[in-house]
Amino acid sequence: MSKRIITTELIDEEKRIESSLRPQLLKDYIGQQKIKDNLKVYIKAAKQRKESLDHVLLFGPPGLGKTTLSTIIANEMGVNVKITSGPAIEKPGEMAAILNNLQDGDILFVDEIHRLNRQVEELLYPAMEDYAIDIIIGKGSAAKSIRLDLPRFTLIGATTRAGMLTPPLRDRFGVVNRLEFYSVEELKTIVIRSADVLNVKIDEKGALEIAKRSRGTPRLANRLLKRVRDFAQVKYDGDINIDVANYALDLLDVDKLGLDNIDREILNTMIEKFNGGPVGAEAVATTIGEDVGTVEEVYEPFLVQQGLILRTPRGRVVSDLGYKHLGLDRGELDEECK
Ligand SMILES: Nc1ncnc2c1ncn2[C@@H]1O[C@H](COP(=O)(O)OP(=O)(O)OP(=O)(O)O)[C@@H](O)[C@H]1O
Ligand SMILES: [Mg+2]
Repeated sequence: MSKRIITTELIDEEKRIESSLRPQLLKDYIGQQKIKDNLKVYIKAAKQRKESLDHVLLFGPPGLGKTTLSTIIANEMGVNVKITSGPAIEKPGEMAAILNNLQDGDILFVDEIHRLNRQVEELLYPAMEDYAIDIIIGKGSAAKSIRLDLPRFTLIGATTRAGMLTPPLRDRFGVVNRLEFYSVEELKTIVIRSADVLNVKIDEKGALEIAKRSRGTPRLANRLLKRVRDFAQVKYDGDINIDVANYALDLLDVDKLGLDNIDREILNTMIEKFNGGPVGAEAVATTIGEDVGTVEEVYEPFLVQQGLILRTPRGRVVSDLGYKHLGLDRGELDEECK
């Protein structure tokens, strides 16, 4: 799956370059207008009161800018940010040490916060609410609990699976933001900005074409830009225009809507083998040789979001739009099947 160019997960080779493309301030963070407007108010208010910012939860699909926004919040607040992740912290003691080492106002960013284990999570409850934790010292009858005051920190939690957060944890975030997929116009702006950072010349139409095929996701827009840049450099004069973009993206098998071979295979299978549906995800997965979880969590959401597949109580159905996208006409096909 990591071989898909359109995966929205972070791939290893991007780790270094991703940080160079990351906007550092709110003014460079494109889109997500409502979230930005609200954050500006909260940040300003907290700074005026010389207090720490309320705890912030950011959720939404991979590559939409959760990590980026967290570092921006820290920059705008003028505080340090300590970055960690749910699976990285195994014991409550490790979390206690991290919290204790923060300074007043600092931000603790916990990525994949839904993957914190139970004990670590429970330590966070009083930490978030009262800026204090209880630790047990000694063993057996000599054991006693002492209260340790913590700096007034801000927790920023990020997750792709908000549904997996426990209610007590979720309730302790004062600010809860859901990141949305980006519009084509916003992605175009991101592509132009990134091209500038990478020192590549790109025209409006070239940027628009990359934006259209980026599945609403900045990370993917940046990745496609970099691949197109390679083609521009080797096959053309180095600049990106609509011809280079079309040439490169077609070669990469990313179509006009951002679908790749596997997406199209799913649609084709549903049409050819199951008459367009309704069909269960299980049956589709078996036919294309994938596991059902991957089909449901990785491939299907984008196809559904684009309106190419409809979810019905009886199963998945290819929509008229889905037929049209593959250049097929549902009417003609139904005739043939009779
Ligand atoms: N609003 C934005 N404006 C400009 N660039 C953005 C924006 N959001 C994200 N990006 C770019 O997309 C890349 C991916 O964003 P980021 O790593 O913040 O996503 P994420 O939501 O944390 O993903 P994951 O769920 O995989 O951790 C960043 O390196 C950044 O360059
Ligand atoms: Mg992230």
